[in-house]
Amino acid sequence: MVYNFFYYICDRRNYNLIQTKQMNNFVFQNPTKIVFGKGTIAQLSELLYKGEKIMMTYGGGSIKKNGVYDQVKKALEGFTVIEFGGIEPNPDFDTLMKAVDICRKEGVGFLLAVGGGSVIDGTKFIAAAVEYQGDEWEILTKKQIPNDCLPLASVLTMPATGSEMNSNAVISRRATKEKFDFGSPKVYPVFSILDPEVVYSIPKRQKANGLADSFIHVIEQYLTDDINTPIQDRWAEGVMKTIVETAPKVLVDRPDYDSCANYMWAATCALNFFISPGVNQDWSTHMIGHELTALCGLDHGVTLAIVLPGTMKVMREPKKAKIIMLGKNVFNITAGTDDEIVDKTIDATEKFFQSLGIKTLLSDYNIGDDVINEIVRRFRERGAVLGEHGIVTYDHVEKILRSRLA
Ligand code: NZQ
Ligand code: ZN
Repeated sequence: MVYNFFYYICDRRNYNLIQTKQMNNFVFQNPTKIVFGKGTIAQLSELLYKGEKIMMTYGGGSIKKNGVYDQVKKALEGFTVIEFGGIEPNPDFDTLMKAVDICRKEGVGFLLAVGGGSVIDGTKFIAAAVEYQGDEWEILTKKQIPNDCLPLASVLTMPATGSEMNSNAVISRRATKEKFDFGSPKVYPVFSILDPEVVYSIPKRQKANGLADSFIHVIEQYLTDDINTPIQDRWAEGVMKTIVETAPKVLVDRPDYDSCANYMWAATCALNFFISPGVNQDWSTHMIGHELTALCGLDHGVTLAIVLPGTMKVMREPKKAKIIMLGKNVFNITAGTDDEIVDKTIDATEKFFQSLGIKTLLSDYNIGDDVINEIVRRFRERGAVLGEHGIVTYDHVEKILRSRLA
């Protein structure tokens, strides 16, 4: 199976193929050091080694407008730094390969990503590709990870993906309209600096994307079958409740520090694997969403907000116990029969995305049958296995997408 999202956290050997109500065996380790709080970017100089040649990577220039670039440069005085800017949202393979060439020529020894998920993911790819002997795209398609990846760290500017504290990266290739992920313990950031004040300058559209994305990261690790994992479930609900409750306070033009801090930490905890040990996972909403970005260019968070209500509707029977748990413990929906609670919970989830200003139907983006057919065709061709226990079939994918047409 080539297409295996987040391989290291949902290794299918650990899946309960015969459904039992038992926590799966797990091994858990997360080596990333988090430095959290106001003014922490200045600590960069203490966290880095002076001896290494550092490549500082960043995106389209937001860091030059909001003061983050200046803070990083000040902290890096006296260090040998090569800059590589221009990593785009949904980082592109061809752009990243330019950085790989520079690293090889200049003998770069450490990578410092300053940005959101795209910059951090792109930097993880650079870290792996520099040492790869062969066609670097195979890192994505064949999950070939070299033994010696460059070490990397990050200064996070956008809470959303959890990339600052996980071992995954998602890379796009515009030339072929593809988007694939890879994961390896070798690309965990050594450290990540999380200063909540970076949130002040994030445009509303990107804050909405980040809120939807982080909420759905929790959902993908929670909304499967109930196998008696109350600790993971209560942690997951705590993260989701925090995201739902802080969302309106974060979306305003001038959010307060506490809301930014709580949102930032919630987004990291949503995908740093703390809630996933031992539980079953279903990344099908992400898998389908990645195809929508690759084919139609939609923002990652938007694709998920479109797909998830469809996944919940089409897969409502196997997910029923957890949908009810979500309704009761996150959205405070307690009245009615089980089926009524399921309906109300699916509705509340979709309304949450709409409250962020995200339109949740494919038809809102003029996407129709041709794209749906192409996505189903791609999954078939790749032999993709989707959902907890592989229960989301290609027919389900088609039904999920068709349920998102007006
Ligand atoms: O390019 P710059 O100038 O940095 O501007 C960015 C970009 O335009 C801007 N931005 C970021 N911080 C800002 C800011 N603007 C003003 N002030 C700030 N403080 O926001 C825009 C979006 O940034 P991007 O990094 O693309 O957003 P995000 O963090 O949502 O990352 C999305 C990418 O991460 C992947 C997605 O597929 C997508 O490619 N994902 C990575 C995952 C992982 N590594 O575990 C999991 C996720 O599910 C996701 O798939
Ligand atoms: Zn995501």
